[in-house]
Amino acid sequence: MRSPQNVVVLTGSGVSAESGVATFRDQDGVWAKYDYREVATPQGFAANPELVHAFYNDRRRALPGVRPNAAHEALASLERKLAEQGGRLTLVTQNVDDLHERAGSENILHMHGELKKSICAHCGDVRVCDDDLATTLRCTVCGRTGGMRPYVVWFGEIPRFMDEAMDAILSADLFVSIGTSGSVYPAAGFAGEARLAGVPAMELNLEPSENAHVFSDSRYGPATQVVPAWVEEVSAKG
Ligand code: OAD
Repeated sequence: MRSPQNVVVLTGSGVSAESGVATFRDQDGVWAKYDYREVATPQGFAANPELVHAFYNDRRRALPGVRPNAAHEALASLERKLAEQGGRLTLVTQNVDDLHERAGSENILHMHGELKKSICAHCGDVRVCDDDLATTLRCTVCGRTGGMRPYVVWFGEIPRFMDEAMDAILSADLFVSIGTSGSVYPAAGFAGEARLAGVPAMELNLEPSENAHVFSDSRYGPATQVVPAWVEEVSAKG
């Protein structure tokens, strides 16, 4: 059987875990240490912007100290291989880190935003942000102070690129979910949407996720092992 040519991959924090980026709901995860309502909601930001800035500044500062792992690299190589064959890999990620880019992936939809960008809540200007954000910063476009925030999607906000992600999933010949617990919608609903449209859906995760029953195939183990193995398998089919 010929390998799939039009693949959509959804990644979650599990793909970056072996690079040293914390997941959210595992035992030592981010939400075991922080209350998401305080650091990842518009209400939390309104109540205590300094705390929210400190939370995301710490995570942005940690990025240079972590590196893409074999799973990120395998996905980037599959994207290149499919493109050479006239196919396509669309990478939809819930991760706000930049490890997929640094591994060489290009066709990426960051549905929860990116740590290395800021957005001005007053005028909507989005720009690259390598430095700390603070309440005292002035937007260089509209000149107003106090609106600079990380370009990340918080609980209660609408994820980005949903139309592009759904279009890609519905026209794919394979949907693959990697390193995500399947507990946050709308990403958790992608596999079900794929199956309803007749698209096979595969799960690659450390352990069965909350919506494991929705998938038509699965491989369990650390991402640095199961993702390169799956990519090799797909590539060998030609
Ligand atoms: P979770 O912490 O909910 O789930 C991480 C998943 O990765 C779990 O299913 C783990 O079993 C799996 N995992 C852990 N280590 C792994 C490894 N080495 N290899 C493969 N899998 C591994 O994180 P997400 O599903 O990414 O949103 O969470 C989704 C969203 O919830 C995040 O984008 C974030 C969070 O709250 C916002 O902040 C808005």
